[in-house]
Amino acid sequence: MTGIAVLGSTNMDLVAYVARAPKLGETVTGREFRTVPGGKGANQAVAAARAGGEVTIMGAVGSDAFGDQLRQTLISSGVDIDLLRTADGPSGTAHIVVDDDGGNAIVVVPGANGTVTALAPGDETLIATADLLLLQLELPLSAVLDGARAARRHGVRTVLTPAPAQPLSDELLSAVDLLVPNEHEAATLTGTADPHQAAVELLRKVPEVVITLGAAGSLHASRDTEPFTVFAPEVTAVDTTGAGDTFVGTLAVALGERRPMAEALRWASAAAALCVQRHGASTSMPYRSEIDNAS
Ligand code: RIB
Repeated sequence: MTGIAVLGSTNMDLVAYVARAPKLGETVTGREFRTVPGGKGANQAVAAARAGGEVTIMGAVGSDAFGDQLRQTLISSGVDIDLLRTADGPSGTAHIVVDDDGGNAIVVVPGANGTVTALAPGDETLIATADLLLLQLELPLSAVLDGARAARRHGVRTVLTPAPAQPLSDELLSAVDLLVPNEHEAATLTGTADPHQAAVELLRKVPEVVITLGAAGSLHASRDTEPFTVFAPEVTAVDTTGAGDTFVGTLAVALGERRPMAEALRWASAAAALCVQRHGASTSMPYRSEIDNAS
């Protein structure tokens, strides 16, 4: 079984479904409201566990009722939460608007995630024994860098999802093995909106890149191979929240199983396509048998 360590956020997603998102200063009436466990770290952990990985998450939930629900969701998906701490105060929350096309806009309030500024006791031992470490950018950058450095010390493959988009130091990028931005994040990191050009730029900093292109699939580029695109299955999206996290969590399991990159990307795309056809983040992530049937 692929051992996956996730150092990342847990959020309670507070989701309003609307015909169209409001502009600044405007009020619109929503159709429905849901609370759904999410957070990029927890989402990647849940996706990887459901895809068949042996997954442990490091991070923090708050001491509120959301914290209990977030822990329960992880446990029920088979994620080990022994290294998930409880910080005094509120859990992370994500305030999400999902429109009729399934697109979303998100405001994240870090809460407990903001208290994770460095690795905690036990975290490095876990990282050392994992096949892969998954990182995102919803924890303070100091913790992300700490995790990436620990993985480098122990020769563990590090996968970074650079979301939410922000400029990153060369120090962090030099400790990353595989970077998985979406088009918008790739543009933020490189200043170019063309994914092929962005991939070329990113390869100056990291050895391997997968740029996710939404419904158009994903673009793989590395320093040693020719770039190639894997197309995504054609589906009708109702909610794209967590699709990128599903893609990364599933991809990590496939890579840990030493599947060739193109096959791993097809499997991850199938999982993300299943995710967007359902509502919510963790609630929409598929199990391994479903991904196998769809790919
Ligand atoms: O990537 C999707 C996630 O981003 C949501 O679950 C939300 O919590 C935000 O962090």
